[in-house]
Amino acid sequence: MRPEPIILPKFDAETHTLKRFMKRFFLFGLAALYVSLASCDGERPRTTGITPAPQQVAWGRGRCVLPETIACAGDLAPADMSDIETWADRQGLALVATDAEPFLRFATDDTIAAEGYRLTVSPEGILLASSDAAGAFYGMQSLLQLTERFGRELPALEIADAPRFPYRGLMLDVSRHFRDKEFVKKQLDLMARYKFNRFHWHLTDGAGWRIAIDRYPELTEIAAWRPYPDWDAWHTGGRRYCRRDDPKADGGYYTKDDIREVIEYARRLHITVVPEIEMPGHSEEVLAVYPELSCTGEPYTCSDFCIGNEKTFQFLTDVLDEVIDLFPSEYIHIGGDEASKGAWRTCPKCKARMEREGLKDVDELQSYLIRRIERHINARGRKLLGWDEILEGGLAPNATVMSWRGVEGGIAAARSGHHAVMSPGDHCYLDFCQDDPTVEPPAAAAFLTLPTVYEYDPAPDSLGEAVVPMILGVQGNLWCERVPTEEHCEHMLWPRGVAIAEVGWTQPEHKDYDDFYARVLVEIERMQERGYHPFEQKNAVGSRVESREPVACLSTGKAVTYNTAYSPKYAAAGDGTLTDGLRGGWNYGDKRWQGWIDSDVDVVVDLERKQPLTYVGVDFMQGFSADIWMPREVEISVSDDGERYTTLAVVANDIPFEYRKSVYETFAWSGEAEGRYVRIVARHNGHKGGWIFCDEIVVR
Ligand code: ACM
Repeated sequence: MRPEPIILPKFDAETHTLKRFMKRFFLFGLAALYVSLASCDGERPRTTGITPAPQQVAWGRGRCVLPETIACAGDLAPADMSDIETWADRQGLALVATDAEPFLRFATDDTIAAEGYRLTVSPEGILLASSDAAGAFYGMQSLLQLTERFGRELPALEIADAPRFPYRGLMLDVSRHFRDKEFVKKQLDLMARYKFNRFHWHLTDGAGWRIAIDRYPELTEIAAWRPYPDWDAWHTGGRRYCRRDDPKADGGYYTKDDIREVIEYARRLHITVVPEIEMPGHSEEVLAVYPELSCTGEPYTCSDFCIGNEKTFQFLTDVLDEVIDLFPSEYIHIGGDEASKGAWRTCPKCKARMEREGLKDVDELQSYLIRRIERHINARGRKLLGWDEILEGGLAPNATVMSWRGVEGGIAAARSGHHAVMSPGDHCYLDFCQDDPTVEPPAAAAFLTLPTVYEYDPAPDSLGEAVVPMILGVQGNLWCERVPTEEHCEHMLWPRGVAIAEVGWTQPEHKDYDDFYARVLVEIERMQERGYHPFEQKNAVGSRVESREPVACLSTGKAVTYNTAYSPKYAAAGDGTLTDGLRGGWNYGDKRWQGWIDSDVDVVVDLERKQPLTYVGVDFMQGFSADIWMPREVEISVSDDGERYTTLAVVANDIPFEYRKSVYETFAWSGEAEGRYVRIVARHNGHKGGWIFCDEIVVR
């Protein structure tokens, strides 16, 4: 049964003092707790349309007619008021501060949670209460969205809202493809709309250094520039850099003034900019210009800093000091992911360091670096944040872990009393393709749809009381290896970023995908009106059609003999995979596709008795970014005895090696034949390190 709607008390103009206001609203607020988000009667609207969905909404009676210019006053500090006015002006919402009786009153209420707010809209005016300036700002974001939905006549209502998590982030990789500060500010505007409060700026990586450092000018004279605009061309073409005045130079960097401008812009939107400076891996660009910091001393030979060399620490701490001077963020992200660690094993300096410090392996050597860097950061009043590899070899004492290889790293960190930010690839990686990869722009050969992002719960109760409070929040990551343009970047960020926002803000009991989907379609239109390029979610096809229904055919459930072995890494459901009736989806990692590396596929299905055959088909896929290739050719043959085979067809591949989108192809024979054993030989294309992925064998 639906609870009765709450009736808002009418404001009394003569006795309109803040105290009375507050008392009434407190009582009202209590009552409102019993009213569900969806409460409605008759003509009252069912939903506010606010995104991310607020925690509590109670509908009142009557309408609030907004004046052309909204006079406002209250407890906000003048600087916060001015920030809100500037922001409102950009949104076309005319606010003016007044000393007289305001229409919109800001009030301080210390009982409201950090960043939370209570927004009371009544025929006589609007009260926006919060315990901090961020809460007031978020209340204004909600008010703005109400005006977009209802125009200047708002329904009377009260919203009591606060974020589920204190860390709600988006990460942008500007190393692989540089994006200028105006683009960053444009995304910050949208982030603020969805109540994000952290922008993680991935400023350095092997493909380009993007921040001016006074003490190391070569970083932006050379390491920020490549003779290849496109990341893949650079990556396969020798991974070189060039001077910024080279006619072929492509790339860029932020001056310190650019950085200050972005930080200040973000601050006014209540977004903290978290800088990331990668170490000890993903650092080819630094080692190209300062090769003495690598184990070999030669440029273009290593991607990891030499940890045995004191000069490495001098460099890193010098850089971090300049970064800390610029960025007020309490967190400084130091990367820590995917160091190859190979050169450390044989480097005399690294070996000497390990011996001196009693470090038993290269994991402990990396941990030695992270701990030293943490001491440096902590001594300057900041905290270290790093990808989950910083757990390997022992976590630094005060570090916070950003969990990306699944959730295990974050959980392990939380169990040992550390904070964690959840950012697992399978729910938060916005570089993954979001819809039919044969149509979508080339992307990482993995798949992440809007509903899959939305369903994510970073801190389910099942993790237990010790873990849940240590999880600070959630972050979406956009890596940009294959995201070369601004439009493409926005296509990947939005609307999945909106789903991340709702995961971070809205309590699970108030989340509802159907409701979210309806709101997101409206948000997409608004984004488009404002010059953004989100993915057209309404045109999404969803999962691969072939994967939706099981197939039943002569080979279903029959035994398969493997003449060549599939990789244990991509075993899918093991030996039954190719005849289990389940065809693969878009994602090679969905445990329906089986993978072979550097090998032909050679398998035989035993149909158990000789029988007439009219069709044999097998699907393969190509995923450029994951080194998954079509076989050069597929031979289909049959046999009565499993020894002497007759070839029915040799089907040649016609997908070019360079083709960048994912492709799914059935290699098939049809005709008339007889046999008991069906053999499929898919020949590898010879590309070293290349995979073949294969799903169901269909025999009719
Ligand atoms: C990562 O995706 N390497 C953090």
